Amino acid sequence: MLKRFAMIAGVFAVVGLAGLAGAADEAKTTIKQAMTKIAKGKASAIPSLKTALNAPSPDWKSIQANSKTVATCTEAIVALKPSKGDQANYTKLAKALAADATALNVSAEKEDLAGAKAAFGKIGGSCMGCHNAHRGK
Ligand code: HEC
Repeated sequence: MLKRFAMIAGVFAVVGLAGLAGAADEAKTTIKQAMTKIAKGKASAIPSLKTALNAPSPDWKSIQANSKTVATCTEAIVALKPSKGDQANYTKLAKALAADATALNVSAEKEDLAGAKAAFGKIGGSCMGCHNAHRGK
């Protein structure tokens, strides 16, 4: 009986620790989470947009949903602190990214393909500059 109680208490202790570690991770990796949501894997927002914007007949529902995700996620990282590089430079780049994402979202709402492609092109051209300066330690 005592042994069984000790085992159950042990399980709770492990779950409790994992929960704490998860919370700390979340606070530290918000830029990472936003980036993952918009760009990690073929099903994420940016790769999906690339396919949809170049399709013979654009699926506006999908384009609008993914544009909204990109706009929301990029807006959310403007006020954050990257683990590397100058904060003012990061803020400038993040604001530009969020502005391009807003432009994409507006064009998507209007089903303006040329406008959406132009904004999407600017977003695609922003990745390297920011990663070189601010990604990593
Ligand atoms: C304003 C700066 C900025 C721009 C612009 C930017 N990123 Fe990032 N990105 C970051 C930072 C900072 C990290 C590192 C986050 C971390 O690990 O804490 C990152 C990480 C990532 C990651 C890795 C996520 C992971 O799992 O670790 C991917 C994928 C990514 N970005 C894709 C993109 C793509 C694609 C673009 C362009 C469409 C882009 N990013 C534009 C700042 C930016």
